[in-house]
Amino acid sequence: MVFNEKNEQNNILVRPLTLKDIGSNYIEWFNDAEVTKYLDAKNLSVEQCKNYLKNGILQRSYYIFAICDRIKNIHIGNIKVGPIRRFDGVSDLVTVIGNKNYWGRNIASMSIKLIKERVFLESGIRKFVASIDSLNTASINAYKKAGFEVEAKLSNFFIHKNNNNEISYSDKIYVSSNNINYNLNKFNKWEPIHIEDIK
Ligand SMILES: CC(C)(COP(=O)(O)OP(=O)(O)OC[C@H]1O[C@@H](n2cnc3c(N)ncnc32)[C@H](O)[C@@H]1OP(=O)(O)O)[C@@H](O)C(=O)NCCC(=O)NCCS
Repeated sequence: MVFNEKNEQNNILVRPLTLKDIGSNYIEWFNDAEVTKYLDAKNLSVEQCKNYLKNGILQRSYYIFAICDRIKNIHIGNIKVGPIRRFDGVSDLVTVIGNKNYWGRNIASMSIKLIKERVFLESGIRKFVASIDSLNTASINAYKKAGFEVEAKLSNFFIHKNNNNEISYSDKIYVSSNNINYNLNKFNKWEPIHIEDIK
């Protein structure tokens, strides 16, 4: 399957992330303190990122898509479907706009909506979930704008330390979106990206 979702109005293209996309520019995103503030992925090397991309496809566990500015033809972020729980019919959805010049321009909300609608239609998935630090309001807002709802909260889940080593806490917010037309047999077979697509 070729996954090439365009949003004409907003000039966004969402397509499979390829090994060629992973270079020094890409690595900068995952070494940027602001971009990675709320991410588990930090200080990654090119090799680690390339292996991570391949492993998701080989293990059928997650699939990474590149978010691109269609007009300027530049790669500005990623959206990852996974980890996938095939039996339960659910998956996480993780979004990173690595190029900070594009923050606050609705790129995340548009991309989440594009992927959500496309995957709902074609995969048979039952439910998408994202877990977000309550301090990451931009992310919570982006998912809400894309049709997700806040479903649960774990209080004081995250610990933060300031420069004086003082501790504060924040909540873990779960947002989700349910697909009423799900089909678990179909979802079990779903493979949107193959290893030959990422070369
Ligand atoms: C979080 C992130 C994905 C948001 O991407 P984005 O493209 O800037 O988000 P959008 O422009 O689609 O904004 C969505 C909504 O959040 C609001 N928003 C944007 N930045 C905000 C900020 N810093 N604080 C509060 N609200 C903000 C927008 O105004 C918009 O709502 P509105 O249209 O009703 O005003 C992006 O900042 C990012 O990649 N951050 C680093 C990685 C990360 O934290 N990912 C999320 C992991 S769960």
